[in-house]
Amino acid sequence: MQRWPTLIEDHSGAEPAILILDQTRLPAEPVMVRLDSLAAAAHAIRSMQVRGAPLIGVTAAYGVVLGLGDDVSDERLGEIIALLAATRPTAVNLHWALARMEQTLRKSALVERRSAAWQEAKTIAVLDGEANAAIGRHGAELMAHLVPIKPRASRSSCLQIMTHCNAGRLATAAHGTAIAPIYALHSAGQKLHVWVSETRPRNQGLLTAWELAEAAVPHTLIVDNAAGLLMRRGEVDCVIVGADRIAGNGDVANKVGTYLKALAAKAAGIPFFVAAPCSTIDFDCPNGEAIVIEERDVAELGAPGIPAHNPAFDVTPAELVTAIISEYGVSAPGALASWQSP
Ligand code: MRU
Repeated sequence: MQRWPTLIEDHSGAEPAILILDQTRLPAEPVMVRLDSLAAAAHAIRSMQVRGAPLIGVTAAYGVVLGLGDDVSDERLGEIIALLAATRPTAVNLHWALARMEQTLRKSALVERRSAAWQEAKTIAVLDGEANAAIGRHGAELMAHLVPIKPRASRSSCLQIMTHCNAGRLATAAHGTAIAPIYALHSAGQKLHVWVSETRPRNQGLLTAWELAEAAVPHTLIVDNAAGLLMRRGEVDCVIVGADRIAGNGDVANKVGTYLKALAAKAAGIPFFVAAPCSTIDFDCPNGEAIVIEERDVAELGAPGIPAHNPAFDVTPAELVTAIISEYGVSAPGALASWQSP
């Protein structure tokens, strides 16, 4: 299967632009869409043409580039950053990327601002790919040791991994976060199988299934509510998810439904891993209570006329998280408090 990039620069026209893989059209039809304005970049994030915390950050960085036309003043820069910062509230990578862009651009001379913006956005994308590759290595090392822990006659030595939402390459500039260790183990020849939960209402599980198929990783789609049954039956060796924001105390905000998986994993004695780059850690946020949970349009539930509520994320308390896997290695969630903000 062809590997479609999530976001690439497009220098073919008179004005440079970016091409994004429109995730609202997956898995039915992979289509690259050209974004050539700030408004188009902001719309792509809001409408979830691009999604996943790291990719939202990378797209926002390029959104700054697209917003800097003839007016590259500090005032214009401030307006662009404010507009992009308001697109989605929970993924902190958005604010991390915008802060990096702002810091770099305010230091650069006005005549060099546009080229500096392209350079910094590229750097943010490259750093994301590198961080995720490192997460893949650390996570694979950790998870490889799980294999002998639960020998299962019916499934031989095949490692059974459950994930939620899409924290794969589609959610990032490259490699994915939670799926990066799975790719690393698969490439190393480890026999494994991934339980992919559907992730209502947006069905990001279909994106995970799409990219696992692309990489020939064995997987099975389940409805979200089947997760507890499978864990209780001993069909799962570990759960691994991504994150949209990790508070300083190790509480984790991720796609709604993550908390229930963590509770079920705890009850079944199964390790629950969170994989995220440091750009997802919000050292200014003391705990999960302080994380803003995005409320999305109830139309996403597909039940017109019925009173509905659609929180897009939930918070898993640190005590339910076995370990956080970042580009720096494997940490206990409670240990984040002693880290320095990178
Ligand atoms: O609403 P989404 O699809 O942007 O939410 C994505 C998730 O919750 C992912 O699990 C999270 O961003 C981690 S992505 C590497």
